[in-house]
Amino acid sequence: MFVITGATGALNGATVEHLLARVPADRIAVAVRDVAQARPFAERGIEVRHGDYADPSSLPAAFAGAEQLLLVSSSDPRADAVALHRTAIEAAVAAGVGRVLYTSHQGAAPASPFSPARDHFATEQLLADSGLAWTSLRNGFYAHTLGWLLGSWRETGRFEVPADGPVSWTSRADLAEAAALVLASDGVHDGVLTLTAGAAPTFEDVAALLTELAGRPVERVVVGPEAWVAGQVAAGQPEGAARFTASISVAAGEGFFAGTDPLLADLLGRAPRSVRDELSGLAAVAA
Ligand SMILES: NC(=O)c1ccc[n+]([C@@H]2O[C@H](COP(=O)([O-])OP(=O)(O)OC[C@H]3O[C@@H](n4cnc5c(N)ncnc54)[C@H](OP(=O)(O)O)[C@@H]3O)[C@@H](O)[C@H]2O)c1
Repeated sequence: MFVITGATGALNGATVEHLLARVPADRIAVAVRDVAQARPFAERGIEVRHGDYADPSSLPAAFAGAEQLLLVSSSDPRADAVALHRTAIEAAVAAGVGRVLYTSHQGAAPASPFSPARDHFATEQLLADSGLAWTSLRNGFYAHTLGWLLGSWRETGRFEVPADGPVSWTSRADLAEAAALVLASDGVHDGVLTLTAGAAPTFEDVAALLTELAGRPVERVVVGPEAWVAGQVAAGQPEGAARFTASISVAAGEGFFAGTDPLLADLLGRAPRSVRDELSGLAAVAA
């Protein structure tokens, strides 16, 4: 039995779709916070269970019988993510789960300026210490994030960043498909896997691509983290949110998202979607 958490979210919802193409529905269960939202899965023969990391009493039944359990990383910026993940991993141990797979992030590291990266690293340590078989899917940064990170470049012909550095912007759809392929491979992939697109362009490269695709000059301006945060706060953004967003570019500047790995292409059997593919969509909207 495959048990998939976060199936009412974008990534693991798409993973369930890909898994359904490979294994019968009666071998899949979803463990979700809101069972009503998961009705479309139930209608297709998938068992729907209630499971919330913040409600440990829900987890024994949610994880029961799981040969493989896909744990989504918490999406709540106010939550203590590591505490939630610890609760889920302890429940997986108690339930006798065969293997835990976890949606981690490329650049998971204790020294990263990007706080989710520190939480992902800490969670991987919990998995390593759990005694369970585990696989950490270190997903590349979602490429669609560029849509909001680049702000009003269409109107202004420029975008400001706190810092510049390479990021292997990766398609969430590709990552969802890869997770299903890893699940269906029944334990071939063990430990930390890095799943990224094939290249890691800088924001300067992104500006050059946008210039080419939009057919007009687009400039990237590095303003420094403090000036960037001050500008965002002046524009009405809460400081905490601005600092969080700034930490993405700062971590990029320190090289945390620079690596690329051929594994995603190997799993998919084709080239992953590239940043040019993502930017083509943005430039088409701007044309
Ligand atoms: N690689 C990247 O660039 C990147 C970017 C953003 C986020 N992420 C991480 O990747 C994860 C998956 O991405 P996504 O796009 O699918 O995000 P998403 O659409 O927001 O889905 C997150 C899922 O996590 C579930 N969840 C949150 N807290 C939970 C808890 N306490 N117990 C059980 N389930 C819980 C949510 O349940 P509900 O459906 O009930 O809300 C939702 O289904 C995110 O949660 C985040 O940790 C990665």
